[in-house]
Amino acid sequence: MKLSFVARPLVEADGDVLVVGGYAEEKRLSPPVAALDRALKGLLSEVLRTEKFVGKPEQIAYVHTAGRLPARRVLVVGLGRRKELDAERVRRAVAAAVRRSRDLGAKVVSTALLVDDLSPKVSAQALAEGALLGAYTFDRYKREKNEKAVEELRVVDPQRRQEAAIKNGLRLGELFAGAACFARDLVNEPANRVTPTHLAKVAAEIAKDGRLRLKVYERADCQKLGMGAYLGVAQGSQEPPKFIHLTYTPRGRGRRKIAIVGKGITFDSGGLDLKTADGMRTMKDDMSGAAAVLAIMRSLPALALPLEVHGIIAATENMPSGTAQRPGDIVRAMNGTTIEIGNTDAEGRLTLADALAYAAKEVEPQELIDLATLTAAVVVALGNLCSGVMWSDKPLADRVLAAAEAAGERMWPLPLIDEYKELLKSDVADLNNVGPRGGGALTAGIFLREFAGSTPWVHLDIAGTAFSEKDLPLGPKGGTGVGVRTILTYLMEEARRR
Ligand code: BES
Ligand code: ZN
Ligand code: ZN
Repeated sequence: MKLSFVARPLVEADGDVLVVGGYAEEKRLSPPVAALDRALKGLLSEVLRTEKFVGKPEQIAYVHTAGRLPARRVLVVGLGRRKELDAERVRRAVAAAVRRSRDLGAKVVSTALLVDDLSPKVSAQALAEGALLGAYTFDRYKREKNEKAVEELRVVDPQRRQEAAIKNGLRLGELFAGAACFARDLVNEPANRVTPTHLAKVAAEIAKDGRLRLKVYERADCQKLGMGAYLGVAQGSQEPPKFIHLTYTPRGRGRRKIAIVGKGITFDSGGLDLKTADGMRTMKDDMSGAAAVLAIMRSLPALALPLEVHGIIAATENMPSGTAQRPGDIVRAMNGTTIEIGNTDAEGRLTLADALAYAAKEVEPQELIDLATLTAAVVVALGNLCSGVMWSDKPLADRVLAAAEAAGERMWPLPLIDEYKELLKSDVADLNNVGPRGGGALTAGIFLREFAGSTPWVHLDIAGTAFSEKDLPLGPKGGTGVGVRTILTYLMEEARRR
């Protein structure tokens, strides 16, 4: 979908559909929409009345213009109450409007900026994100594809002086949504395609296109580095593990360093502690953290932020086999910590243990962030619409939470209660990789904290949010690309903070 800016009053906007916003609890149409209504001789307000359009979020009504306006249809999308309006309302409204336009067969959609209360840049970014995320589909394996697609979205604004800000917002929105959709594609691809080797290949393409540094450690390299926890998980699979390290280096020296680690289990069968059939059904999504890291790293050259960013993925499958790791095995992580395998299905934290220890030791970043589909417990706690956030550094977590809010991704703090470290005690090793059922997201977080060491660290448990079994306002069922826009927003703020 091409995005463009057109300086023109709404009554002169063309296209197959012209999208405008309608607020709840307002008697009168906003002035530009009222102008459209006058041109249509009151037809728009009449249809809104008979269709009982009340401006509820994402509610839609539309009319044909029958030649009275250059646009062939005017579509009004609900924005809810004016005083509750934020960027997320705009994203969702535009997503709904673009989907409906597509279903109507529209190729060119014009839209007003929708809101005056947000800055033109923020508004335009939200608009672009809503359109691109909302129109996302994954049909590359289907014979029957949706032939209908919106090819162009034109943002119409009468004022030329907002042009630069709007174009800037559109570009950012395109970048952010493009990144999220890149992650969605990787998650939606099945595990027979997306192997650790495939992730390494994708990393190589990203490195080549964006001139990033790439180091891929093979099994033997990881052995030399002492990554026993990661390799213990990998030993059950026929697929060779790939430890991926991408680096974005900005121009200039002495920049702050940030490392982002993503859980990259390309399929989680549970290992010898095998999952149930239903528990395994969506476990191709267990590399969603890795997908987010790749998507973020891929976007950095275009953003040109003055930050050194490291993307790290310990990619492997978790499979049961004659060579698989057993419950009761003891492994040694890169930082020297020994771990008793209480359950082979708690494999994510084992791979992350070495990835975090590697990041802390080899990169020495000022900030360390991980994204992981880590625990079923976080789904029990927060459901499928909210990720869990845990940390060793509160100011860092506060900044990530603020970025999530701005990006419209729900994330909520969970406490890493020190006394719960007891629950990870082992009789034979420094740590057990599992605790009791209660507080499962927290003990997983406490386990990870040991390997981040003294580096300020924040952990996002995206087990509930990375993959949706239902269509959502900003995308169809399947991979969601969660975390991508939050971290990109966070990085942009970080670049500004200095
Ligand atoms: N990948 C799973 C977590 C998961 C569960 C992600 C549901 C998405 C949806 C993880 O590796 C896992 O199996 N965790 C276990 C840990 C347990 C054995 C301590 C869990 O949460 O059940
Ligand atoms: Zn598991
Ligand atoms: Zn897993």
